[in-house]
Amino acid sequence: MRVLKDLFEKNRNWANKIKESDPDFFTKLSQQQNPEYLWIGCSDSRVPANEIVDMLPGEIFVHRNIANVVIHTDLNCLSVIQYAVEILKVKHIVLCGHYGCGGIKAAMDNQQHGLIDNWLRNIKDIHRYHKAQIDALQTEKEKFDLLCELNVIEQVANICHTTIVQNAWKSGQPLSVHGWIYSIEDGILKDLNVCITGLAEISQIHRME
Ligand code: CO
Repeated sequence: MRVLKDLFEKNRNWANKIKESDPDFFTKLSQQQNPEYLWIGCSDSRVPANEIVDMLPGEIFVHRNIANVVIHTDLNCLSVIQYAVEILKVKHIVLCGHYGCGGIKAAMDNQQHGLIDNWLRNIKDIHRYHKAQIDALQTEKEKFDLLCELNVIEQVANICHTTIVQNAWKSGQPLSVHGWIYSIEDGILKDLNVCITGLAEISQIHRME
């Protein structure tokens, strides 16, 4: 099993199909990328960025990690945001979470899961901040769904708290940060209506003048 033949065959079919509808597609795309969107989502195989919004290569710049978190010491995620905002000048950053997220579920229990517990600690903090609101719900499913949504809202804020995003706003660059959630049960995206478009919309504590 050194060569995954199936995947290479699928790849050739895919490339041919695109070339049939646009013979110059890959040639044009190889010259430059000009995506309008940065997508930050979960690594979950059921939440593929391009497919969900039916977009072709070249249209979305993507970063994915377990539970779609934006942590201020994560050089990988911050580098993606910096490149997307400062070089590609994307107009929108979409933080997309999903219901049924295994990362969120793991952060909700009191088991050890190994190394990943450190990655998910950030989500335990969100649980702690909103404990009363979560505890007030009746079922485990409702609690789980709410934490998935609260995680999106928190990560939208984390994106806006970076100096990268704040400097873009200060220089007058149009940039909106959106919080969406996806249902793996029906394939439908929901806008959580927490879009932030400028410095005035974030908490005073986090504004870096
Ligand atoms: Co997930």
